[in-house]
Amino acid sequence: MVNIEEITNVTEYEELAKQRLPKMAFDYYASGAEDQWTLKENRTAFERIRFRPRILVDVTNVDMTTTVLGFKISMPIMVAPTAFQRMAHPEGELATARAVSSHGTIMTLSSWATSSVEEVASTGPGIRFFQLYVYKDRNVVAQLVRRAEKAGFKAIALTVDTPRLGRRESDIKNRFVLPGHLTLKNFDGLDLGKMDKSQDSGLATYVAGQIDRSLSWKDVKWLKTITSLPILVKGVITAEDAHIAVEAGAAGIIVSNHGARQLDYVPATISALEEVVQAAAGRVPVFLDGGVRRGTDALKALALGAAGVFIGRPVVFSLAVHGETGVRKVLQMLRDEFEIAMALAGCTKVSEINRSHVETDIDRIRIAARL
Ligand code: FNR
Repeated sequence: MVNIEEITNVTEYEELAKQRLPKMAFDYYASGAEDQWTLKENRTAFERIRFRPRILVDVTNVDMTTTVLGFKISMPIMVAPTAFQRMAHPEGELATARAVSSHGTIMTLSSWATSSVEEVASTGPGIRFFQLYVYKDRNVVAQLVRRAEKAGFKAIALTVDTPRLGRRESDIKNRFVLPGHLTLKNFDGLDLGKMDKSQDSGLATYVAGQIDRSLSWKDVKWLKTITSLPILVKGVITAEDAHIAVEAGAAGIIVSNHGARQLDYVPATISALEEVVQAAAGRVPVFLDGGVRRGTDALKALALGAAGVFIGRPVVFSLAVHGETGVRKVLQMLRDEFEIAMALAGCTKVSEINRSHVETDIDRIRIAARL
């Protein structure tokens, strides 16, 4: 077991998790869809963005706190929903919930968690969002939303990019199925908690059987009739859909390509962010997930208009290696990196981070065109 003190960045956890986890579990966590072009692009697009730091600013105090949907959090880095966390560690989502609340930020619990909304709530106080997959059976959805509300979850992140499951080829090859001792805990009582083996990815088969492919914008309106919680639309990557999301009453937008696990060859989320921010025009906050591995990535996203970012894989990988302590460590590393990045860019408050702090390839083209 590697000593936790020796870990210096978030990316190191991926290799360590690979050594520790059964192949089927690691592949499920790590993979993207098909050629995994977008998976790589989610990272390389961050690498193409450069900073324009401001110097000689008094950075004795750097305040990373911010407010998301009215909740004050310690930094604009939050946790995205990732399914089946007990496959990484026996304490699964409970360990994640404790780690995230100890850092004073927000955890999003997946519909497909291997711990129920009630179990996660029982870990103690914390600001938590519930990610929703819409099942064909709307009674199931209504019950689940009601349970999340009752358990104190503060918002619904409605995932809109998964009418079918993207083709993750290693899951197909591995005939991925949830290990026999685990269930989709939120659905146990509804007889939908088990995933059967199939000739395909067992999850793809489960999705094909249960998830509503007909989901459309009118269902966002329906969801608003069954809950008073704010709804974040997770999976918008175009200006067109950002406009519709705002009109449909979304309280916020999450620019996400599902960690490159759905449609391959969509842009990196950091490349799609700005058009969505412009379309939202300040009417609702815009968040981003996908490829965030450094404090500088968070700073880049905020400079391009995001109100906050979410991390997915780093949580499951660190959970697999060091459990709750690993997730705490990941959040601590990102916090430290974000603080230094803010200071070196000359920002003392999150509200000071703006478009002038970064330069993208498009800016270069615009400047060249003016010359
Ligand atoms: C996910 N994601 C996801 N999204 C969602 O809405 N519901 C879910 O249950 C899951 N499950 C899930 C499992 C695993 C293993 C991964 C890697 C991703 C997508 C997730 O919320 C988020 O969009 C991405 O993970 C963000 O990209 P990074 O940080 O993993 O690069």
